[in-house]
Amino acid sequence: MRIAVLNGPNLNLLGQREPEIYGHSSLAEIEAMVRTAAGPLGVEIDWFQTNHEGEMVDAVQRLRGHADGALINAAALTHSSLALRDALLAVKVPFVELHLSNIFAREPERRHSVIADLAIGMVTGFGAQSYVLALQALMGRLRAA
Ligand code: DQA
Repeated sequence: MRIAVLNGPNLNLLGQREPEIYGHSSLAEIEAMVRTAAGPLGVEIDWFQTNHEGEMVDAVQRLRGHADGALINAAALTHSSLALRDALLAVKVPFVELHLSNIFAREPERRHSVIADLAIGMVTGFGAQSYVLALQALMGRLRAA
């Protein structure tokens, strides 16, 4: 199986960016964690990060026919991007939404996700571990289908 991991704006700064909220791991370290977890699950990982909404939309559109599922940390696009929502509606790839921080314990504007109802489920608040938990949850669902 092939799983795409899509990361939105500013996640390239993980490790330096508000470590008290997002932790000390860099995105490259998280990618390595996910690849290590994916190996025994027999999963190939396509890793992607962008700071641009349109590139995120393009990445979602490319999923069709290329990925069995996706893990999506859309970062700030989570709270605002109807373009991302529309792309996910169009492509209909099964995905798990994930966040490092617990978005429901943060400012009111972060407590709403415009993509959450399209996801299989959400993992939020476990730091870098959210990525691994989301991968395990997605694979459990895809293998049960
Ligand atoms: C985030 C939460 C978002 O509100 C924020 O804009 C991010 C990261 C998280 O992983 O906790 O950039 O998605």
